Amino acid sequence: MSSFGCWGLPTALLTLLCCSGSSEVTFEVYVWPERLAVEAIGSRKVNCSTSCVKPESGGLETFLSKHLVDQQPQWQQYLISNISQDAELICYFSCAGKTLTKSLNISVYQPPKQVTLKLQPTRVALGTSFTIECRVAAVEPLESLTLTLLRGQETLHNQTFVGAAPAPQEAATTFISMAQREGGPLNFSCQAELDLRSRGGDIIRSVSEPQVLQVYEPVQDSQMVIIVTVVSVLLFLFVTSILLCFIISQHQRQRRTGTYGVLAAWRRLPRTFRVQPA
Ligand SMILES: *[C@@H]1O[C@H](CO)[C@@H](O)[C@H](O)[C@H]1NC(C)=O
Ligand SMILES: *[C@@H]1O[C@H](CO)[C@@H](O)[C@H](O)[C@H]1NC(C)=O
Ligand SMILES: *[C@@H]1O[C@H](CO)[C@@H](O)[C@H](O)[C@H]1NC(C)=O
Ligand SMILES: *[C@@H]1O[C@H](CO)[C@@H](O)[C@H](O)[C@H]1NC(C)=O
Ligand SMILES: *[C@@H]1O[C@H](CO)[C@@H](O)[C@H](O)[C@H]1NC(C)=O
Repeated sequence: MSSFGCWGLPTALLTLLCCSGSSEVTFEVYVWPERLAVEAIGSRKVNCSTSCVKPESGGLETFLSKHLVDQQPQWQQYLISNISQDAELICYFSCAGKTLTKSLNISVYQPPKQVTLKLQPTRVALGTSFTIECRVAAVEPLESLTLTLLRGQETLHNQTFVGAAPAPQEAATTFISMAQREGGPLNFSCQAELDLRSRGGDIIRSVSEPQVLQVYEPVQDSQMVIIVTVVSVLLFLFVTSILLCFIISQHQRQRRTGTYGVLAAWRRLPRTFRVQPA
């Protein structure tokens, strides 16, 4: 035990000497923030720092425009401006002849501002289909976007754009739905959600103006037949009664004029012939 303790200390010292004496320098380079999501076209402050007590040099590599705001031996703070596209920033420090780097990814985004929803048609018969179309203008990155079509509070359809081109462009989704039996008109809306959490940002949501679908009940075929039949019968009865009235009135007129005709003829007869034979 004692002999082991006796050898333990020199061994530890040897190890320390060996390693610190070699070219192995242990220091770290940090960048803050570690991830950055910036709305185009923005500017942000970035801090490069190191654990090396006396770094020989340090700096920030980027193609974006940078401006050294403040510095101390162990850190440098930069203002990065006119950030209009995704970029990788590299912080570096040299310590005892060795250089270490740390990178920071900047993601540029454009929030969904204009979300428009269109129903086609806006008035449908029960049980027939209609199209819901949602469009978002100039949103990026599309990979972080989810479009959700909602009926009231209920989700009808979700669309993601993973693997889509990163260029800012219009995103759209369409969904064909069936008009179901519901009480009154229905509100439809579209939610655009840009989830920037993996890129150092937040969740940005925007919802379209609600659109109301008018659903009407079509008149059933059997009902239609009944209505047509009833109307036809009524029409027939009406026409028949008018005809009957006409015929009857004609008939009565004839009978009356016939009577007068006989009377007139009687009166026109010479008096001698008027005396009827007994
Ligand atoms: C930069 O980072 C270092 C290390 O975290 C810190 O000590 C320093 O205060 C920071 N500088 C600024 C301007 O925030
Ligand atoms: C940002 O870009 C605009 C136009 O490209 C330019 O006029 C302006 O000077 C730039 N600002 C900085 C800080 O580089
Ligand atoms: C930055 O992005 C590049 C390429 O997309 C990736 O390889 C790298 O791991 C990212 N770095 C960090 C610190 O997220
Ligand atoms: C659709 O996406 C939203 C938001 O990302 C989520 O809350 C919901 O659960 C998703 N619904 C379906 C049916 O995938
Ligand atoms: C639809 O939404 C509008 C506005 O949000 C609201 O005024 C209206 O009451 C809603 N109608 C129904 C049937 O939910």
